[in-house]
Amino acid sequence: MAVYKLLLLPGDGIGPEITAEAEKILDFLGEAGVASFETETGLVGGAAYDAHGVAISEEDMKLAQEADAVLLAAVGGPKWDGVPYDVRPEAGLLRLRKDLALFANLRPAICYPALAEASSLKPDLVKGLDIMIVRELTGGVYFGEPKEITDLGNGQKRAVDTQVYETYEIERIGRVAFELARKRGNRVTSSEKANVMKSGLLWREVITALHKREYSDVQLDHMLADALGMQLVRWPKQFDVIVTDNLFGDILSDVASMLTGSLGMLPSASLGAPDASGKRKAMYEPCHGSAPDIAGKEIANPIAMIGSLGMALRYSFDLPAAADAIDAAISAVLAQGLRTADIKGSAASSVSTSQMGDAIVKELREIL
Ligand code: NAI
Ligand code: MG
Repeated sequence: MAVYKLLLLPGDGIGPEITAEAEKILDFLGEAGVASFETETGLVGGAAYDAHGVAISEEDMKLAQEADAVLLAAVGGPKWDGVPYDVRPEAGLLRLRKDLALFANLRPAICYPALAEASSLKPDLVKGLDIMIVRELTGGVYFGEPKEITDLGNGQKRAVDTQVYETYEIERIGRVAFELARKRGNRVTSSEKANVMKSGLLWREVITALHKREYSDVQLDHMLADALGMQLVRWPKQFDVIVTDNLFGDILSDVASMLTGSLGMLPSASLGAPDASGKRKAMYEPCHGSAPDIAGKEIANPIAMIGSLGMALRYSFDLPAAADAIDAAISAVLAQGLRTADIKGSAASSVSTSQMGDAIVKELREIL
């Protein structure tokens, strides 16, 4: 049986509570003989600051580098509002993304049929929605130079941000999108503003050439980012995989996440470049934050965290059957009417964090 090294970073707020539920799934997969996991648990965010005065320690960074994947829950909270900028909880996340060179951010927007009523769109528009947004994460306008504010000396200031993309950066994110599409609906929509931005023009040129050269079996469309925003709320099910830059991806993935009506449900993955043996550094985390308002109450929804573990099985550990089983188990417990408080809607009652985790394990037992 294969052994996988997984670093758990529970972080702050509800992080430890939802991590405990993901561990139940890991234990079950080990018991069931699907795979064996060697886990270590580290500190990140406020938890690391309280223990060591940093947002993540060098020892834990080393564990992250050595692991096959990192599973992080969430960081931050009002307790650390006043801490210095470079050791604030979010600095731990940024350090992990930067040092592991995680350039591809995968954010699925999935709407489980049982939850379609919770969407901000009409249920028919979102029922069964399953799209994947692939956002470039380490380039573009958030990082380009020059990036500055200068005082013009006449009571005016001038602020500059610079969008920079090079061929290799566009090619490697395009490759991630095309590979994903082959395992899904075989369609990619690439999005930029080629009509008004040079970087958009290059983006379209590089994606088009890559498609022609290596992925002509996948259907490719181009859509301007503003039009794509419109189409996402008009008829989201027209999309399969969307690939876009850092800035547009930031905005469009947040829009897409709301279509599903439930922040506590959405997982994510961030992937690095493959090494010579084809292995990638990777970090998996829920899209939501540390939810300090409900921390310690045992009511947090563990599904985004469990779904993130599912993505790790799919993209880092090559266990697609186990990942499918997790998705099916989540679907099944929702169809049975099990709800945590955040997705309760008009349901008569809700279950606790650990009751939801236990129910998912029970379903997994049936499926696997
Ligand atoms: P949040 O995502 O933590 O919470 C927003 C709302 O959704 C809250 O009402 C919360 O109770 C609810 N919620 C979130 N996840 C839930 C879950 N699994 N189950 C049930 N309800 C859930 O965002 P917020 O409140 O803006 O930020 C709180 C803290 O989290 C801040 O310190 C922020 O900086 C940090 N944060 C961290 C992120 C990360 O670690 N990747 C991402 C976003 C925010
Ligand atoms: Mg954002």
